[in-house]
Formats: sequence, C-alpha cells, structure tokens
Amino acid sequence: MELTINKAAILADLDAIAACSDSPPPGVTRLVYGEADQRARAYVRDRCRQVGLQLREDALGNLFARWPGTAPDLPAVASGSHIDALPEAGRYDGTVGVVGALEAISALRRAGYQPRHSLELILFTAEEPTRFGLGCLGSRALAGALDPEQLRALRDSAGRSLDELRVAAGFTGPLDMVQLNRGHYAAFVELHIEQGSILETEGVPIGVVRAIAAPATLRVHLQGQGGHAGAVLMLERRDALLAGAEIALAVEHAALSTGSPNTVATTGSFQIEPGAVNAIPSAATLAIDVRDSAAEPRDHALAAISAAVAAICGRRHVAYQLDLLNADPPATCDPAVIEALVTVCEALGFPREIMVSRAYHDSLFMARLCPSGLIFIPSRGGVSHCADEYADPDHICQGVAVLAHTLARLSG
Ligand code: GLV
Ligand code: MN
Ligand code: MN
Repeated sequence: MELTINKAAILADLDAIAACSDSPPPGVTRLVYGEADQRARAYVRDRCRQVGLQLREDALGNLFARWPGTAPDLPAVASGSHIDALPEAGRYDGTVGVVGALEAISALRRAGYQPRHSLELILFTAEEPTRFGLGCLGSRALAGALDPEQLRALRDSAGRSLDELRVAAGFTGPLDMVQLNRGHYAAFVELHIEQGSILETEGVPIGVVRAIAAPATLRVHLQGQGGHAGAVLMLERRDALLAGAEIALAVEHAALSTGSPNTVATTGSFQIEPGAVNAIPSAATLAIDVRDSAAEPRDHALAAISAAVAAICGRRHVAYQLDLLNADPPATCDPAVIEALVTVCEALGFPREIMVSRAYHDSLFMARLCPSGLIFIPSRGGVSHCADEYADPDHICQGVAVLAHTLARLSG
C-alpha cells in the first residue's frame, strides 16, 4: 500500500499544540488539567473530529478516538502518547506520538485502507509526574496499576486533590470505570522521540524498542530546626538543607555502586523552607528518580538510598519521612509487534536499531494490557525535557510512516 504522510499537517499540529503553554516560548509547559492543557486537548478533539473519528473520554481525561473497523467487535489496535509537558520542556516529547497517530490514521483513510480491527488514537492523561508526583497516571490507571482509592488519595503540591481537579476540568465520570480489561486492545504501538543520542550518533532514523527500563520515585521530607543565620553556632544546628545535600550525593553514589552501568539516579527536585539568606533551612523535600533496565540493580540503589537517609538524618539529628511513590517493573515489547515493525522498516528501506528505552512511556503500562511496541525517532543532540528538544520533520514523517504501515499490518 502506498501512503502519503502529510508533513505540513504534522508541523501545523505541533505548532498549534506548542502554542498552548503555561510558559512563554521557547519552552513549553502544560500542567495536566491546567488551562493550556485544556486548550491543547480541545485542539486534539477538534482534529480527531475533522478526521472523522468517534470520541470517548474517561473519568481521568484519557481520550480515545476511534475509526471503527469492518469487524467492530474485534478488539481495537491503538496508538498514542501524551501531551502534558513538564516545566520549560520541549514540544516533541509525547506530542509527536499523538500528532503522529492522528496522521498515521489520516494517511490510512486517505489511501482507502479498511481496517478489520478498529483503529484507535489514545491521548493519555499525565504521563509526566509534575503535578501528582506519579508518572503515567492515565495509562497506569487503564492497566489497573492504580485503583480508584489510590487515585482519590492523590494531591498536587498545592494540596488540591486529583478528584477535584479532574472534575473541574470536565472529567466527571466514575473513576472505577477507568480500568480496561486485558484483551480490550489487540495491540498498542507508541511513536516517541528517543530522548537520548544513540540514533543520531549511529545515523539511524528508526529505533525499535525491545524493553522499557524500570522507573522508581522516592520523596524524602526532612524536618530540622530553623534559626537565625548569625546567632546559632555551627555545632548547634540541625540544618535540613545540609542533610538533603548529603542525601543527594548519596543518591549519586548509590547509582554508581550497583555494578550495573544502566543504573541512573537523579535528585530532580530539592525544595527548602523558609528559603531566606539569613535563616537556617528548617525543612527540605527531595524528589528522587531511580531507574535501571533491570529491577534488581534499581532496587539495590533504592535500598542503599534508604539506608543513607537513615544514617545521615541520624547523625544530623534531622527527622525524616521517606515515601516510595512507585517502583515499577520493566516492560518487554511484544515479539510479534517488534517483528511487524522490523518488517515494515525493511519494506520502507529505513535502517533501524533494536534498542532499550531508558525513559518510561505510556507503553510501559499498555504492555500489561496487550501486545505493545514502541518506535523511536532521533532527538537532536539526545536532548529532551528542556526547551532545546528538537526532532527533524523528515524523521517524524519516517516514524509516522512506520507507525501507519504497522497499524495496517496489525489491524488487517
Ligand atoms: C518520562 O517523561 C520519563 O521521565 O521517562
Ligand atoms: Mn517526558
Ligand atoms: Mn514522553
């Protein structure tokens, strides 16, 4: 089948969604359920309607846009990603997978293809952990890895509950209807930028992912003793920031000591109170991200960090609370989906690399529901999660072509 990928439409969609931002250009910020997120969702809904898709939204705001197949009772084949963006991020992370799925479906419709299984675009709510501290919120709930009780307990940093925020955003349905059954989908394929530099370095346009690394998140709250920066002598202090600083170094040490070169750990957020130059920091909160392609070394690092927190806080007489927010197992992409992707790359004449995703994606949880696959395209300079993120339009079109042909193979 000959398919024409509409580059102008893809770029117009990326522009329109990037214009929906909580921060001025060049960075893009879209906090889930915020005003910019709402505008971007409205744009995606309109575009799905223009393409002729049937829309459904669940109680979290996961959006499902369906092209019914000739055998509509068969489970659908799905593709999609997220549009929420962390502070001052780029315009490609997630969005390429949503816009790309829309263009893949449009191209198949233009070509007169008739799927047997329905084809469905999914826009997942809150893949980024920015607001609720937990990544892949929407896909996690679809896969049943987060029940309604746990969803209701989630709050943002301002203390507003997920329940309150999702209802205010117009998603009022019952939370206990979000989870999908295994077998609801026949297959899922996500298109995403690599966010690393392997494809660019090797000059390969397509990555076919075989496994997704195991992520975990810790939150550590430290309570020391505030005081006057001039009046309290050094030996009398219980400085929460200094305990936190030692913990951040212990996090680095823990990642370097697992024996696995794939263990990475990041103290990505470190907030102190009261935050005045002449006040001893009384409290600190650290958010720590720990990953490896295998769960065992990742868990080793988590245990080492917990032990270090206890030792450091004991020595510094700082009270602490340590919460493990998530520790997810790695995911394996489905061999049949990988084979379909490789066959399509060969037919299109696109070099491809079989690789591991060190970043997590909604496919980490979709892989629990159905056979899943993940396509990467190069990220310039391997840069992501910042405003400099860039993907070449020709690479995006190649990724969309691979996605469209694969969706055709899986749904035919
Ligand atoms: C996804 O955004 C990740 O942090 O891997
Ligand atoms: Mn991201
Ligand atoms: Mn992403």
